Amino acid sequence: MTKNDPAAYTPPLGHAALTPIYDAAIALLTRENAWRRALVAEILAGGHDAILDIGSGTGSLAVLLYQASPHAAYVGVDPDQDAVRLARNKAAHSGSAATFVVGYFPAAIPSEPIDVIVSSLVLHQVSLAEKERILAAALDRLKPGGRLILADYGLQDTALARFLFRATVQSLDGRANTQPNADGVLPSLLEKAGFSAIEQRAKWRTMTGVIYMYIAAKPLASAI
Ligand SMILES: C[S@@+](CC[C@H](N)C(=O)[O-])C[C@H]1O[C@@H](n2cnc3c(N)ncnc32)[C@H](O)[C@@H]1O
Repeated sequence: MTKNDPAAYTPPLGHAALTPIYDAAIALLTRENAWRRALVAEILAGGHDAILDIGSGTGSLAVLLYQASPHAAYVGVDPDQDAVRLARNKAAHSGSAATFVVGYFPAAIPSEPIDVIVSSLVLHQVSLAEKERILAAALDRLKPGGRLILADYGLQDTALARFLFRATVQSLDGRANTQPNADGVLPSLLEKAGFSAIEQRAKWRTMTGVIYMYIAAKPLASAI
């Protein structure tokens, strides 16, 4: 199985057949309105000439970002062709000029340094090695001082949260990739990758488990 093999990644809702209902499920089950709007606000709070979204899925962030800031330069990358097709249609329908690339970050992306890298609901569904690879590549591609903004399932800190996460996300995406997130691995992975100013910005209790927003920066010293 190679990196570009369709079987090498988990589709948006765990199974390719469920991709058409991804948007409805996320809206219904994850308090999407709250966390996605917070994500957009965080992106727009700092310098954001070039925004890259790793695992851009069906394009919901691109559309919301366009509505909040029509001139934001957004590129999404995702290995799932069906998701990218939906994203391109949604973006075009909204009037957004967002572009979407089918492939894996960073190979599919031009090498210009990026101001903001964002990723939502992606790291929980990839292997530990892939979480580390994505974070290392994000650090490499950010401008010094550039920001990484993550929204994803993290530490499931109560029995109820663990139960909800197990009954929903883990039943669709499997346990192996998702459990490190549930055990709270994200901050230490960010630190290990070399990010600084790592901060938990927000936390949402949802019907599918606890979603967190983390921000982190590429150290200025990395410019040397
Ligand atoms: C749950 S969806 C999240 C989509 C979108 N970011 C959102 O917030 O709705 C996860 C996405 O990550 C993509 N993905 C899976 N493995 C990936 C990888 N190794 N690198 C980048 N994206 C990946 C999937 O194709 C899917 O579209």
